[in-house]
Amino acid sequence: MAPRGGFSSRIGFIAAAAGSAVGLGNIWGFPFEVGEGGGAAFVVIYLMFCFILCFPVMATEIAIGRKTQKNPVGAFTALGYKNWNWVGKLGILAGILILSFYNVIAGWAFGYIFEMAAGHFGGGEQFGEYTLKIFKVGGYGLAFMATTALVVSRGISGGIEKAAKMLMPTLVVMMLAMVIYSLTLPNAMDGIRFYLVPDFSKINAGVVYNAMGQAFFSLSLGMGALITYGSYVNKKENIVSAAALITLADVGIAVIAGLMIFPLIGFMSGGTMEGAAGGPGLIFVTLPTIFGTLGSIGPVVGTLFFVLLCFAALTSTVSLLEVPVAYAVDELNIKRNRAVWIVAGIIFAIGIPSLLGFGYSDFFSTAFTTYKEGGTDTDFLSFIASLANDSILPLGGCMIAFFAAHVWRKHNLDDELAEGSPNYKGSFVQKYLNFAVGYLAPFVLAVVFVLTVLFKFFGISIF
Ligand code: PFF
Repeated sequence: MAPRGGFSSRIGFIAAAAGSAVGLGNIWGFPFEVGEGGGAAFVVIYLMFCFILCFPVMATEIAIGRKTQKNPVGAFTALGYKNWNWVGKLGILAGILILSFYNVIAGWAFGYIFEMAAGHFGGGEQFGEYTLKIFKVGGYGLAFMATTALVVSRGISGGIEKAAKMLMPTLVVMMLAMVIYSLTLPNAMDGIRFYLVPDFSKINAGVVYNAMGQAFFSLSLGMGALITYGSYVNKKENIVSAAALITLADVGIAVIAGLMIFPLIGFMSGGTMEGAAGGPGLIFVTLPTIFGTLGSIGPVVGTLFFVLLCFAALTSTVSLLEVPVAYAVDELNIKRNRAVWIVAGIIFAIGIPSLLGFGYSDFFSTAFTTYKEGGTDTDFLSFIASLANDSILPLGGCMIAFFAAHVWRKHNLDDELAEGSPNYKGSFVQKYLNFAVGYLAPFVLAVVFVLTVLFKFFGISIF
């Protein structure tokens, strides 16, 4: 069998895994969830979930990957539990579904670089017309998928690691430049106040529940992306500290994204923060409108924003594609290069209904009722997101944690986590991870999974 390749350095692995985590979820999803969840109170709950619940699951995924040196399906088999490899299969399915719509959004963002550079700041109307130009947005989507495939086809150290090492630092610099600029605008501080001063009266079950889903998606958990990346990590690596750094990087970038966006909304709303709860349209409608009010610097700021959004998205699409590719290479014995282009082509095709679901095709725009808020018709993309992000990821995370603690067993997990981390055994972190992976995560994720499925697909709302 051909060598699978691997990360060449600790920093390369951390950059790639942080790159997977940091994406549209941080820069697009996080601010709009904060806006809808009433601001800082959401942020506090989100941070708690990331560190208390997600970080242990992340360390577990990486440990399973490194132990087995396999894709998520092969990993369960390699540990001797072939009858558990459906969890890996479900993860691969989630990866395929997520990439299919994620690439549509990334393609829009790619095209918006040119819209901004040309000074087109037409807000909602412009975006509505833009998504109807199917061949144009389809072309941008195709270009984005091809770029993703190109990176993945170059392998782990030569493609994924190299791209992440270049893109991630550039992303941080661009974001900080945007934050500094946003903070100089009038009424910026009203945005910051909304964002950072919590009002706990805004918290209800729905907010808690969205914070959980957002944290899980943002950290790329539940579908074996980190089992896959973990399979390319060497034994000297300290997994626990790497997982902590990846979590910190992801949370840090989400927090910076908020610092970049809320001052802009403070500025536009004259301090009332109206428009903060702009929902998914925040990035493609509200922000371009704001860029349009900035005068001659508008096109520069707008272009910069969408370039950085694309950089963030690319390191995530790369990790999403790598999961089914690793499966094809390990289990089906297909050569990497071939596997990459075939899988990318199939996923692009699966994404076409999502692309058509923004008014171009009535069927894909409205026929997918999720019963959300009493049975409104929804578009295909939202339906796939409900299925993959909101349902399969928590189920996968629950199963992975339960499996690691109770089937593969805690002492084996501990042994793997102790490799490269000599002080791990007997530490407080070990005790905490044992509790979180064994009980807390399976329980909370099972509850989230059941509530989501009841709510999204059966219209039953328990809280
Ligand atoms: N974490 C990515 C984001 O926040 O945009 C999305 C993602 C990437 C989810 C990879 C899952 C995954 F395996």
